[in-house]
Amino acid sequence: MLKFNNQFVNSFINKEDFENMLHRADAAYDVLMSKSGEGNDKLGWLSLPEDYDKSEFEEIKKSAEYIKSNADVLIVIGIGGSYLGARAVIEALKSSNYNLLEKDTPQIYFIGNSLSPSSLNEIIELCKDKDIAVNVISKSGTTTEPAIAFRIFRELVNSKYSKEEAAKRIFCTTDKNKGTLKELADREGYKTFVVPDDVGGRYSVLTAVGLLPVAVAGIDIDSLMGGAYKALSDINVNKSELGEVLNYVAVRNCFYEMGKRLECFVSYEPRMAMFNEWLKQLFGESEGKDGKGLFPVSTVFSTDLHSLGQYIQESGSSLMFETVVKFNEFDSDREIGAEEGNLDGLNFLAGEKLSVVNEKARLGTLLAHTEGGVGNLVVEVERLDEQHLGYLIYYYETVCAVSGYVLGVNPFNQPGVESYKKNMFALLGKPGYESEKERLEKQLGL
Ligand code: PA5
Repeated sequence: MLKFNNQFVNSFINKEDFENMLHRADAAYDVLMSKSGEGNDKLGWLSLPEDYDKSEFEEIKKSAEYIKSNADVLIVIGIGGSYLGARAVIEALKSSNYNLLEKDTPQIYFIGNSLSPSSLNEIIELCKDKDIAVNVISKSGTTTEPAIAFRIFRELVNSKYSKEEAAKRIFCTTDKNKGTLKELADREGYKTFVVPDDVGGRYSVLTAVGLLPVAVAGIDIDSLMGGAYKALSDINVNKSELGEVLNYVAVRNCFYEMGKRLECFVSYEPRMAMFNEWLKQLFGESEGKDGKGLFPVSTVFSTDLHSLGQYIQESGSSLMFETVVKFNEFDSDREIGAEEGNLDGLNFLAGEKLSVVNEKARLGTLLAHTEGGVGNLVVEVERLDEQHLGYLIYYYETVCAVSGYVLGVNPFNQPGVESYKKNMFALLGKPGYESEKERLEKQLGL
């Protein structure tokens, strides 16, 4: 279902370095599978595609049906790992223009992923005169951005519907037993779904965190999980595709040791832009610690070839390499027509498919960037559907975890995320942060 192609990096990495790194990748994979590495209490994602709560899975489908039948709009509240996966899957499998499509599923708006008043007010405006449902997602239940958005939307739902009806329209995805959100949900009688204890936010897309919004969008979550299960079997059970993981891990870590500091996730499909955002969190939070790690960036080509292409071509070589996810088949295509007079000079393309032009752009870029010193790795996927996306998700999660162990970091924590929160709480005057407030205000000259 997927092939990792490193054919075009041979000119950058010598064979011996690659072989050595492959051994390290193999050893890191053993650490992962024997659950002997740091963060091994967060390995639930490894067996998730086979070992998930089947009755909750059915409940997710039922709730999705309820939302589809009773709401014009689903508001999804969450940030980071409690946001990116669902949006990435919906946009990849439906469209980045999902809300503009003609469809029999609700509009889906994502909020609580910023503190911008204008974007929140905009969504409130869009909900006017609409029947709404809310899915608030927060493992901790205390993350400020979604907590504020939830307070505002709870008020809105409560003012629009009776207490009983409002309770039927709010769905909380959070810790099984504890936390502010869990307590609030139990008190108000909201339906709850679980973020398993042993699955971290950025590895949680195949739990209720991702699955409920994805199911509401009309995506077949059985197939998505089926694809992830196939990846689990191919990589970890029959190991026929383990090489696709280890080779990728080895190449990216060779590049890192050669001094490259950026991995650019590239797609030639605009609807994969949010998937790239998901990848950026997955790798950025997993690897970026202890002064180590590749900084993940992303581009959509050929769009960004006309903005960042210049930099990549002529100044990218010391800094970065690219990893392209390429799909071999397309569910939609368009033929370019012939034009009398050939006024735009494009008749040499008459009868050609747009997908062919896109592929030639990819090949041309691959050669140009390779020549410019920017290595080009390719992850080839047969097509973009539920099965293959589920496969790709599990594949990337495994690549990321193994890479983290090669790098010598704990790929499952994110201690650095707390620093800005501490300062923000202090500046906002949260009880308990008084002395910090004074110190920070002095620094800011307030
Ligand atoms: O990967 C992570 O753990 C983070 O991105 C979290 O998902 C994010 O900070 C949101 O946390 P929570 O779900 O507790 O609101």
